[in-house]
Amino acid sequence: MLRIGMLTSGGDCQALNAAMRGVVKGVFSERDDVEIYGFQEGYKGLIYSNFKMLTSRDFSGILTVGGTILGTSRQPFKLMRVPGEDGLDKVEAMKHTYHKLNLNCLVVLGGNGTHKTANMLREEGLNVITLPKTIDNDLWGTDMTFGFQSAVDIATDTIDRIHTTATSHSRVFIIEVMGHKVGWVTLHAGIAGGADIILLPEIPYDLDVIIKAINGRAKAGKRFTIIAVAEGAISKDDAALPKKRLKEKQAKKTYPSVAYELAEKIQNRTDQEVRITVPGHTQRGGSPCPYDRVLATRLGAAAAGLILKEDYGYMVAIKNGEIKKVPLQEVAGKLKSVDPKADIIKEAKLTGISFGDE
Ligand code: F6P
Repeated sequence: MLRIGMLTSGGDCQALNAAMRGVVKGVFSERDDVEIYGFQEGYKGLIYSNFKMLTSRDFSGILTVGGTILGTSRQPFKLMRVPGEDGLDKVEAMKHTYHKLNLNCLVVLGGNGTHKTANMLREEGLNVITLPKTIDNDLWGTDMTFGFQSAVDIATDTIDRIHTTATSHSRVFIIEVMGHKVGWVTLHAGIAGGADIILLPEIPYDLDVIIKAINGRAKAGKRFTIIAVAEGAISKDDAALPKKRLKEKQAKKTYPSVAYELAEKIQNRTDQEVRITVPGHTQRGGSPCPYDRVLATRLGAAAAGLILKEDYGYMVAIKNGEIKKVPLQEVAGKLKSVDPKADIIKEAKLTGISFGDE
C-alpha cells in the first residue's frame, strides 16, 4: 500500500487543485493500491491529525476550479517549535501524525514559508515532495510558480479597465498590485497593461522622479498617468533608513496600504486628481489561466514520478521550459526577487516606462 499525505499551505492561489489532480492522476496511472490522506487547512491538519481520506474521484473535475479542496492556513515557521496555548511542539505533533498513519510520504504545495517548514520536516526524517505555488513568483529554484500567470492576467485586466476610464479624465490612477516583498506581478502586469510608471520593492522610488514623469506627460498632452505600484514598494528615503528605524516607522503607519501613502504624496504636488484601485485578493481568485493549468499539471505529474520512484526531498520546478527536481535544502529560506539590472527592466525603460528611480 502506498500512503500519501497531502496538504496545501500559505495563501491560496489558482491551480492548486490542478496540481493535486496531476499528482493523484500520475500516481494512480501506475498503482491502484494508493491511499490519499488530505490534511485540512495546511500544516494545521497535520499538527492536529485532521484529515479526510480521498479517492481519485475527489480529484476529478477540479482542473479549472480555483482555491484548494483541502483548505489552507498560514502556520508561521518561527512558531513551529514554540508551544502555543495547546502546549504542543508542532513539529513533533506533525511527525507523530505522519508516523501514526504510517505514511510513505508527504506532498506539500506552498510558497516560501511553507518550504522552510517542509525542509525542516525532511531534516526530521520525513519523506517530503513539494510543489511551488504562489502568485508572488518569489520561490527560489523555479523560473515560475503556478498562480503567478493567473494573477498577472487579473492585475492586467484591472489596469486595462482603468485605462479606458483614464482616457476620459485628467487624473493620476494608482493600481496597487499584490506580491508581498517582490515585484514580479506588478512588473509583468504593469508592462502588459501599459502602465506609465511601475514601482517595485526592488527599485526604491524617488518622489521627485515620479512627479517629473507625471508633469512631463501632462506637458506632452497626455491627459492621464497610470501607476502600477507593488504592495511592497518603498521610497528611496525609507530604503536608506537603518532596518530598525524603518520597522518602527512601518509599525506606526497610518495608511491602509502603500497606494494610499503614494496618492497623498502625489496629490500634494500635482493639480491632477488622484484615484486608487486595489484589486487585492481578486488576484488570487477564480479559475487558473491555461498556462497555470498546464504548469500545475506538469509539476503534479513530475511529483507523482518521484513518489513512484521513492525519490524524496525535492521540490519539482520548471527551468528553461523543462521540469526538474531541486533539493529542498537549496530552496528553503531563499527569496527570488526582480533583478533591477535585468533585461526586462531595461527593455521596459526603452519603451518609456518610468520606474521612479531616474
Ligand atoms: O503570498 C501571496 C499573497 O497574496 C501576497 O501577494 C500578499 O502579500 C499576501 O499573500 C496576502 O496575504 P493574506 O491572504 O494572508 O492577506
